[in-house]
Amino acid sequence: MRLKDQFPLLAGDPGLHYLDSGASSQVPGAVLDAVSRFETTQRANVHRGVHRLAEAATAAYEGARDDIARFLSAAREEIVFTSGTTAAINLVAHSFGDGLAAGDAIVISGLEHHSNIVPWQMLRDRRGLVLEALPVTEEGRIDLSQLDRVVTKRTRLIALAHCSNVTGAVVDLGRVVASAKAVGAAVLVDGAQRMPHGPLDVPGLGVDFYAFSGHKMYAPHGIGVLWGRRERLEAMPPFLGGGDMIRRVTLEKTEYAPPPVRFEAGTPNVSGAIGLGAACRWMGGLDWTEIVQEELRLTGCLLDGLARVPGVRVLGPLGLQQRLGVVSFALAGAHPHDVSQILDRHGVACRGGHHCAQPLMDRFDLAGTTRATIAPYNEDADIDALLVGLDEARRLLA
Ligand code: ALA
Repeated sequence: MRLKDQFPLLAGDPGLHYLDSGASSQVPGAVLDAVSRFETTQRANVHRGVHRLAEAATAAYEGARDDIARFLSAAREEIVFTSGTTAAINLVAHSFGDGLAAGDAIVISGLEHHSNIVPWQMLRDRRGLVLEALPVTEEGRIDLSQLDRVVTKRTRLIALAHCSNVTGAVVDLGRVVASAKAVGAAVLVDGAQRMPHGPLDVPGLGVDFYAFSGHKMYAPHGIGVLWGRRERLEAMPPFLGGGDMIRRVTLEKTEYAPPPVRFEAGTPNVSGAIGLGAACRWMGGLDWTEIVQEELRLTGCLLDGLARVPGVRVLGPLGLQQRLGVVSFALAGAHPHDVSQILDRHGVACRGGHHCAQPLMDRFDLAGTTRATIAPYNEDADIDALLVGLDEARRLLA
C-alpha cells in the first residue's frame, strides 16, 4: 500500500497535490481512529473524576504522554502539553523569561518564524532585556560564524528554529549548544518543521527546551509539546494558573504541582493529546531513513525543475545537505498569492506569502514567496504538477 493511501483525505481526492504540509500536514487513519475511539468510548475530563470513564480518559491522556516521551527519548515528566509551538515558546518566555533581569540578552536569528520573535520582543519590553539576532547568509541559513560576536556573557537564552519554515535550512545545533554552554546560556529550539520528519533524541541534542506542534506531524490541530530539561522545568514558576496545576490552594496562597502538570492549567486538549500520541506511534512504525531519503530525492527534483524555469529565484539552499524538503521560490514580476492561485487550478496546494517570517523577507527584499513542503506521502506526480502549473503561472504573470 502506498503511504498516501493511509491518509483518508488524500486517498479520497486523487487530483490533489498536497504540498502544504509545512503549514498543516494531513492525518493518517490510525490517528483519526485513536481520536474517534477516545471520543466514542472514553471521553471524560482527566485527572479529576474517579468514575470509570474519567480513569480511562486519564490513562489514555497520560499514555499519550508516554508515547511522545518515547518518540523523543525523553522522560515523561519533561513533556508539557501545550496548544502548539507558539504556546510552548510563550510559556518559556514567561516562566523562564520573567526570571531574567534588565540588561540580560536573548539571541534569536533573522530567519525565525514570528512565533520565535514576537514573544521575545514582548519579554524584552517587559523586563528591559536586550534582543539580538544572528544574521542570515545568502543561502538562507543562520550565519553561525557570527555566534562569537553575538553571544556574550550577557546572553541568557538562544532561541532558534531547528529547520527554517521558509528556506528548509537545518541549523547545526551542536555549534549553537557549544556557544551557549560557553557563557552559561540556555537554548530553546523551535522544532515545528523538524518533527514531521522522524523521531529525534531531543535530550541528546544538549538543548534546554524543544517546542513543536501536532498539526504539522500528522496529528490534530490545537495540540503541541514543550519538552523541557527536567532541572529547567523544576526551577520555573507556572505561566497560567488554574485547575490541575496545584498541589494545595488556600485563599492566601498556592503550592504548585511538579512539572509537567504545573504548566497545564485548565482542562487540556485531551483528544488532541491522544491524537498526537497516536501520531508518534504511527511515525515510530515507519522507516525514516528511507522516507527522508525519498523526501530529499523529491526536493532535488523540485530544485532541478525550478532551476529550469526562467525568472524563478529559490530562497534557500540549492543543495541537499543540512536541509529538509521546504522549498520557497519567487517568480519575477508575479505575486506569490497569484502563483499559488494558478497552482491551485492544477490541484497543487502550496502556501504563498511571507510565511510569518517578515524579517527574512526583508533580508531578501521580497514581499513573499511560494512555498512547497514535502511530506512522506508526496510523490513525483506532485512535483510534476507543480512544475506544470508554474509554467502556466510564468506565461500568465511574468
Ligand atoms: N508555521 C506554519 C507555516 O510555516 C503555519 O506555514
